[in-house]
Amino acid sequence: MLPNKHIEAALQAAVRAVLPDADVSAVLVRPCPDPKFGDYQSNALMSIAKARKMNPRQLAEQVKAQLNVTNWCEPVEIAGAGFLNFRLKPEAVAACLDEALAGQHLFYERATNPLTVVVDFSSPNVAKPMHVGHIRSTGIGDALQRILRLLGHRVITDNHIGDWGTQFGKLLLGWKQILDRTALERDAIAELERLYKVINAECDANPQRLEAAKLELVKLQAGDVENAAIWKEMIRLSQVQFDTIYGRLGVEFDEALGESFYNAWLGEVVADLLRRGIARESEGAVGIFSDGSLPPKEDPFLVNRDGEWVADPALVRKSDGGFNYMTTDLATVDYRLKTWSPDEIVYVVDDRQAPHFKKLFLAFARWQPEAAKKVKLVHVGFGKIMGDDGKPFKTRSGDTVKLGDLLDEAESRALAVVNEKNPDLPEAQRREIARVVGIGAVKYADLLPNRQSDYVFSWDKMLSLQGNTAPYLQYAYARIASILRKAGETPNIQPSTSNIQLGAADELALAKQLLNFGGVLEGVAADFRPNYLCNYLYEVAGAFAKFYEACPVLKSEGETRASRLALCELTGRVLKQGLEALGIEVLDQM
Ligand code: ARG
Repeated sequence: MLPNKHIEAALQAAVRAVLPDADVSAVLVRPCPDPKFGDYQSNALMSIAKARKMNPRQLAEQVKAQLNVTNWCEPVEIAGAGFLNFRLKPEAVAACLDEALAGQHLFYERATNPLTVVVDFSSPNVAKPMHVGHIRSTGIGDALQRILRLLGHRVITDNHIGDWGTQFGKLLLGWKQILDRTALERDAIAELERLYKVINAECDANPQRLEAAKLELVKLQAGDVENAAIWKEMIRLSQVQFDTIYGRLGVEFDEALGESFYNAWLGEVVADLLRRGIARESEGAVGIFSDGSLPPKEDPFLVNRDGEWVADPALVRKSDGGFNYMTTDLATVDYRLKTWSPDEIVYVVDDRQAPHFKKLFLAFARWQPEAAKKVKLVHVGFGKIMGDDGKPFKTRSGDTVKLGDLLDEAESRALAVVNEKNPDLPEAQRREIARVVGIGAVKYADLLPNRQSDYVFSWDKMLSLQGNTAPYLQYAYARIASILRKAGETPNIQPSTSNIQLGAADELALAKQLLNFGGVLEGVAADFRPNYLCNYLYEVAGAFAKFYEACPVLKSEGETRASRLALCELTGRVLKQGLEALGIEVLDQM
């Protein structure tokens, strides 16, 4: 068990000894925000005292008297209004590092009660190119699913591809009438995009064309063989494009059911919603309206127009009989619950869809209240990528940036840096480094900011070898790998004996950083915020740089050398595992 978990267990036991009926599940130990006061801290006693109208400092004294953490900590201190501060004994830190060296853990533990979590992410639309914005859902979602798995949870990833909808009427008409086969072979998505644009413009100008497109859609929906075959071919072509990008990003999915998968159930969903009085007809359409249970300000089924609250229903059937995005999403929740019984379903989708998900979650809870109680539905939203002009990031000519082009540019910019730094490496190796650095840089720059804030896209910043960037961390890892190579051996570790010595302040500081890995991973999983891990890895790399400057490694001797090499080894393992958890590769040589 990791020291913080030992402390937590001891603290919970002490609270129970003082207050036998207390619920100790919220008695937690967190890293101390300021190392001046200790390594870990608990503020749990204050809320317990508050709930029981007790004096928090007095409670803290009583708990402290029952607390036995002498194996791991220096004497515990009570601070402020009733905080408990814990400072680890260097021996306890060293013992934990020895365990890690022996392969017993890497400073994190698998969840004792694993959850089943469905992660819905990436979810691009068919017949359109993936653009720069897709890096957000794809990268954040992939990092979250990797971290959840690392912590031992059961994860099902589902790429909810947009493979159905009214756009197919226009696409089908275009395919049948103006398809350029040669262009399709050259660049299928560009050709599909062209078809859509041409027909869409025609439809805007000419109602007859719009009718023709609608007819194609109706035929598709009715199962017309020719239209279904063309539609399937469009999906296949799109999937080829998606798979190329996912391959480059190292992203895989367990499922890619797509919107169309749910078509067969949509009629029944609407009928059931009507039957139960959750939805009602309005102007020929069917919608879910406010049930008045929320204050208007918090009610997503209402909007304020000129000072008045008016209905903003979630439409589940259009007046022409077609179904909506919402209908499919309701059917999707239902399917996922029945298929996987998840504890959580996490939607990694642009914050602009926040109102949709608010409606979806409330609508589902009204539709299936019992099922809804068993699952936590979470919208993990994110902001926009901006250009340095303060407007959404575009190409110089003002077009949306295609994701494939962006990744090409990342690799070629990284290659320029590698060519300059390492002109003597063989070309294939330089290209491989450029790939790992370029893709890593783009991903990391996207994961680093708080996901809900917009961020400014900057090649120079993300590719810099200084500062909180992927290349900086990748180089830190490669440097460690090179130290270990130079040492000519991985330190020879005997699991049962103590190997690690933490006499120098910078050794101890680095070691304590390593110990926090698990807590950070758990924080990411709890709040769905991969940026915690980015910042942590940056701190680890910083602590390593300080240690390496202050403490000679290769030039030291005997046990000191072995211990310091072991610290290098463990730092390398944490950096590598941490970056991989973010979906970022590392190389031993750069
Ligand atoms: N395809 C949608 C879009 O591009 C995102 C789908 C997100 N997932 C979901 N279950 N609604 O906007």
